[in-house]
Amino acid sequence: MRRATITQYLIEQQRKHGNVPPELRLLIEVIARAVKRIGHSVTQGALADMLGSAGTENVQGEAQKKLDVVANEVLVEANLWGGQLAAMVSEELERPFIIPSEYPRGKYLLLMDPLDGSSNIDVNVSIGTIFSVLPCPEGREPDEQAFLQPGRNQVAAGFAVYGPSTMLVLTVGHGTAAFTLDRDLGTFFLTREPIEVPADTAEFAINVSNMRNWEPPVKRYIDECLAGKTGPREKDFNMRWVASMVADVYRILSRGGIFMYPRDAKHKEGRLRLMYEANPMALIVEQCGGAATNGRTRILDVQPTALHQRIGVVLGSKNEVERVTAYHR
Ligand code: AHG
Ligand code: MN
Ligand code: MN
Repeated sequence: MRRATITQYLIEQQRKHGNVPPELRLLIEVIARAVKRIGHSVTQGALADMLGSAGTENVQGEAQKKLDVVANEVLVEANLWGGQLAAMVSEELERPFIIPSEYPRGKYLLLMDPLDGSSNIDVNVSIGTIFSVLPCPEGREPDEQAFLQPGRNQVAAGFAVYGPSTMLVLTVGHGTAAFTLDRDLGTFFLTREPIEVPADTAEFAINVSNMRNWEPPVKRYIDECLAGKTGPREKDFNMRWVASMVADVYRILSRGGIFMYPRDAKHKEGRLRLMYEANPMALIVEQCGGAATNGRTRILDVQPTALHQRIGVVLGSKNEVERVTAYHR
């Protein structure tokens, strides 16, 4: 069977839905190329001196790993020349990087978590890259304000997983597709489409070390899961926590489940970032028939107030997400 490339998939999407003009396709192709380069560095690991910390901090006061810095540079550099972007922001950049006027400027805004799962870099566990594309409001400077749009405005979102295979998961608003990198050919090929997240599940993902800080609805939900067959849910639940959102979400896209990093007494706003973690993942999961809320409201409807804003995240199998959200009401 001949498998589609990313380019062919996007051309087909444009033909069917008119949602991928050539500039958006080119932007996604540039991101996919950058992802290949990052994946190569990840695979090289210690051989290319890619492990360990960079000795610097990002805007959020978090220690940066060498790969955080490398991945950010690769993505920024790759997108600087392309002509599809007006500006980009990243977890590793304090302010939006506005495309300098000597370069061609496009009409999109790119938001990214260049390297997700930093704590797993040095232990050889799956990590990834997350990105989100917003339209730049017409006739205005692509400053911070231009980025503060709700996630439902995203025209594309995706993430890469650098795991046993390098994969790229992508949505342009009509379903979600997964591509696997053929390392010999250097090409991503479509390997899963459509992706459907089952509405029910018996598997949850949460960092239980935060339990003492949880709000009562979260505590109630997890207690009920742990009670298993003899509890109110009348079935046993399994637990997984990779601590790389990309890997945890990919598992949910594969066999269902619920992923939670709720706000709690320690993470008062939540731990994950709205603009380049929660929003792209929420769009992808919704496009697979799942749901994503902050425990109270749909993530894609949240009006952002700051670039690096954090938010509670509950996403995955629809009926489970609705249950947790109902417990908060
Ligand atoms: P990042 O490496 O970009 O800072 O993101 C890490 C995130 C996410 O991938 C993961 O789900 C979560 O942090 C893990 O948090 P804990 O270390 O608290 O489990
Ligand atoms: Mn992250
Ligand atoms: Mn990161």
